[in-house]
Amino acid sequence: MEEIKKIVDKLQQILTQDGRLSLDENINKARELMSAYRCAIMEIETKFKVLNDWFSLQHERNPIESITSRLKSPESIRDKLERKHLPITITSIEENLYDVAGIRVICSFIDDIYLLADCLIRQDDIKVLEVKDYIKTPKKNGYRSLHLIVEIPIFLETQKKYVKAEVQLRTIAMEFWAKLEHRLRYKKHLSPELYNYTADELLKCANASNQLDYKMQEIRNIIENEKNK
Ligand code: GTP
Ligand code: MG
Repeated sequence: MEEIKKIVDKLQQILTQDGRLSLDENINKARELMSAYRCAIMEIETKFKVLNDWFSLQHERNPIESITSRLKSPESIRDKLERKHLPITITSIEENLYDVAGIRVICSFIDDIYLLADCLIRQDDIKVLEVKDYIKTPKKNGYRSLHLIVEIPIFLETQKKYVKAEVQLRTIAMEFWAKLEHRLRYKKHLSPELYNYTADELLKCANASNQLDYKMQEIRNIIENEKNK
């Protein structure tokens, strides 16, 4: 609750700057929206935890290494709306941003990513708005992950509300790489030469870690096949 209060206060500050707060908006709307995003995170996290438990019972293995989640900060919300030349209002956040609620699921193996994504997509309360498969088609810099933009119902006192969320599924190796790449992007003190050099090296690391991911998957398949004989 404290977290929501802080976020809402900050959001309120940002929305009222330069008189940008539109008339139909008020603090309650901001509070309700942020708390709906928080609930969406809880619901989706629970869905993955349930799947993890189920697989550990049925197949004696846990497909999930860890789950992290975050509510997008008011500053990032404002920056993204500004970048996209969208109105800075509560309604605009709700309609235009898909990643205010973010859930990241880290798996050991690539197969588990697709297994979990399929299990989630098949659940009948989940609406899939978009699938971005950066594993099949990595970004130019080497970034890999499977992103699902989903909508999930939140049951409140008197209404059912659909809330958008971004789920990112990746392996430990992809996470390791993405963390370092993210840090590099903000190292503005690097000369263009060094920046290009590190970007090139990072791309090589992305490819090497992808090979490692496939190798590990291959080894697991051999072990699993032997066990099932
Ligand atoms: P954003 O404006 O960043 O949300 O991009 P987008 O709406 O075009 O979506 P995209 O799928 O490209 O990225 C969504 C999220 O994926 C980002 O906020 C990051 O968390 C992650 N991501 C995407 N590309 C990269 C990348 O090149 N490096 C790292 N480290 N993370 C990335
Ligand atoms: Mg984003």
